[in-house]
Amino acid sequence: MKYMVYMEFAMNTKIVKIDETNESALREAGQVLQQGGLVAFPTETVYGLGGDALNKESSRKIYAAKGRPSDNPLIVHIADMEALVPIVKEVTPEAERIAQSFWPGPLTMILPKSDKVPYETTGGLDTVAVRMPSHPVARKLIEYGGGYVAAPSANTSGKPSPTVAKYVIEDMDGRVDMILDGGEVGIGLESTIIDLTVTPPQILRPGYVTLDMLEEILEHVDVDKTILSNESGLAPKAPGMKYRHYAPSGELTIVDGETKQVVAYINQETEKQQVSGQKVGVIGSLETKDLYGADVVKNIGSRLDEEAIARNLYRILREFDDEKVEVIFSESFSGTGMGQAIMNRLLKAAGHKVIHLENKKMEE
Ligand code: TXA
Ligand code: MG
Repeated sequence: MKYMVYMEFAMNTKIVKIDETNESALREAGQVLQQGGLVAFPTETVYGLGGDALNKESSRKIYAAKGRPSDNPLIVHIADMEALVPIVKEVTPEAERIAQSFWPGPLTMILPKSDKVPYETTGGLDTVAVRMPSHPVARKLIEYGGGYVAAPSANTSGKPSPTVAKYVIEDMDGRVDMILDGGEVGIGLESTIIDLTVTPPQILRPGYVTLDMLEEILEHVDVDKTILSNESGLAPKAPGMKYRHYAPSGELTIVDGETKQVVAYINQETEKQQVSGQKVGVIGSLETKDLYGADVVKNIGSRLDEEAIARNLYRILREFDDEKVEVIFSESFSGTGMGQAIMNRLLKAAGHKVIHLENKKMEE
């Protein structure tokens, strides 16, 4: 079955190392998009898998290449403010303010869509998600590609989003026409998504642009309750957030508590797993990495440096797969500010499996 899927996608993928000065490659990639083809490219958040957002065939191809359910809508990427007008019903004053403050950058807004945007791109919804990225390669590609690029993260559905081209190539070689390798991305977690079709506006996915930053621009902003908890029994408002996501192959457990206790607990569990023959990995920090006895210990950065933690998380999850780690323990990080985005992704990667050492309660 796997083999059949592979055969269907055996296309010739052109892989190009690139920066924004490589005009000929950017124009070629733009041509590919205009002709209905797919191009994977770097953005400041994660790599995207791009197709012409106004061409329904391109959107169908994106779902197929990712192995993604087609009710999970795509984000439309634009390169300038004028491009927003034709694809939405109305550019509201709120949308205007958000764009002025956060575009170009890691912020996606949801607005009612115009007829120009096919339902294939919005997963059947009457709303559209729009983002203006800041990465110079992304911006030129959008411009040369016709102005509207639908792009989910460039990973196979369910896997951690790629932050380096190596993992784009691993997932997408043979499935897309071109891969633009622009090196490591800057942020490492997907954009913040804010829904402007509801009052008050609501954050559907946390990211680099935090609740506090948004509340400086819009007076009151809600947060989708499902972002850090799976206890409410509610479905997340962003269709894509309901799927198991960002998951490594090994079984990941988050251990929360006072650092010393966490290290001791993880070491004790590591030994148990090793005795039963499992290869164990740990996501530690700059402060703790030398204290662990696991087979593979990763330093995600200083516990005080959220930007480093965000940038390293997905790459580390992927590296555990490369190293065939079977059981993974991770420290827990602060859930405020950008930490909310980090914990949201980590909790999803762990299927919400958290051990709280203080009250010795185990969450499933
Ligand atoms: O940083 C990013 O946003 C990256 C880069 C490539 O730009 N893209 C990205 O796309 O993360 P994707 O497809 O992996 O995630 C898009 C999320 C999904 O959870 C999807 O359900 C949600 O956005 N979404 C898209 N359109 C929506 C809509 N109209 N209403 C609600 N949620 C929407
Ligand atoms: Mg994604």
